[in-house]
Amino acid sequence: MPASVILGAQWGDEGKGKITDLLSERADVVVRYQGGNNAGHTIVTEDQKFALSLIPSGVLYPTVTPVIGNGVVVDPKWLFEEMETLREKGIDPSRVKISNNAHLIMPYHRKLDAVIERYLGNSMIGTTKRGIGPAYTDKFSRSGIRIQDLFDEKIFLEKLTVALKNKNKQLVKIYNQLPLDFDAIADEYLGYADRLAPYVTDTSLLVWEALKEGKMVLFEGGQGTLLDIDHGTYPFVTSSNPTAGGAPVGIGIGPTMIDDVIGVAKAYISRVGTGPFPTEQINEIGDRLIEIGGEYGVVTGRRRRCGWLDMVALRYAARVNGLTEIALTKLDVLSHFDTIKIATAYEADGATFSEMPLQQRVLHECTPLYEEHEGWNEDITAVEHYEDLPELARRYVERIEELVDVPIKTVSVGPGRKATLTKS
Ligand code: IMP
Repeated sequence: MPASVILGAQWGDEGKGKITDLLSERADVVVRYQGGNNAGHTIVTEDQKFALSLIPSGVLYPTVTPVIGNGVVVDPKWLFEEMETLREKGIDPSRVKISNNAHLIMPYHRKLDAVIERYLGNSMIGTTKRGIGPAYTDKFSRSGIRIQDLFDEKIFLEKLTVALKNKNKQLVKIYNQLPLDFDAIADEYLGYADRLAPYVTDTSLLVWEALKEGKMVLFEGGQGTLLDIDHGTYPFVTSSNPTAGGAPVGIGIGPTMIDDVIGVAKAYISRVGTGPFPTEQINEIGDRLIEIGGEYGVVTGRRRRCGWLDMVALRYAARVNGLTEIALTKLDVLSHFDTIKIATAYEADGATFSEMPLQQRVLHECTPLYEEHEGWNEDITAVEHYEDLPELARRYVERIEELVDVPIKTVSVGPGRKATLTKS
């Protein structure tokens, strides 16, 4: 797999960090292509636990070059804090490379993210309040500030002047907030220029050269397919393209250079933030999935919403990403249930939907059609080979494979690196 994309096939939090970490062992370059420090990857090594947010998971391997592509929005304060945390744990982040074209998250983006959410009241998205949406808004309205602008003080100050005038008007006149101070922001950000310089490079060229040399490049998506700005449950989505098509754009290579697309899906499903969720279990089952699965956000600590596996959504993810294989995670969480359900279609207005409905309204109103599976009720966390799983657990995995029509090649049965089974 010289160039593989690994991404979330649900609403994020599928356990991508762990699978990416395992694949990173064989990779030369690991690239983030979208999102920012809204993502949260938990990686459990033999002796330590890491919660990464902005820096690609590959940083844990000294042989990997971790790359932050042009499609990512970068909060420099966060970046340096994350680097410091890594150093304290004995990991050297000096190999990180950052695109000169990546956009900066500015203090007014963070502030606006928080006040806009408050203003939306019941219609809030439930964002991570890290300034992601407002930073992408500026990128697409062509008023964003890029990393390369920090290296030209005149340009940076000109861009900041225009942006801050506009943002302060919004903050004061619409959201009833105090204006932000120009000099404080200018000093802080110009102060980042020298610190960022050693990391900044033409990452499109770096990745292209690596691929030409036959090196292995892993593209690591943040969030998940159903949070994609184009293909997710809009507007309850993030502001970028975590789907596979976002990878070539977010680093600057052609789509023909991608070989594989690995979708990571949990054996059940979860989401944080608001938005439709047909198989959500607001009952004792949901509570147990949350508690047994430890379903609390890495980034915000929020309790995730949980429910049964949704095959309409997973088939959709297989299609819009062109998945070539699936890694199924957290199968062990289901060991504690007598009956396990899989939604195969939705029913609404007297019609049955086996594909994503044209009207998103249906997702809010539908009743999922479930098939029931007998639980295996047996601890599987120490199983080392797929063939040694209880038969009922294998049947569950193979039924999912049949319904999605994409091979499941990896099954995770616990958080550690070793609790990963390869399925032929
Ligand atoms: P934002 O990305 O902070 O703008 O948040 C938009 C939506 O995406 C909210 O529902 C967040 O909870 C969700 N979200 C953002 N990042 C992640 C993630 O890494 N995992 C799961 N949900 C996320």
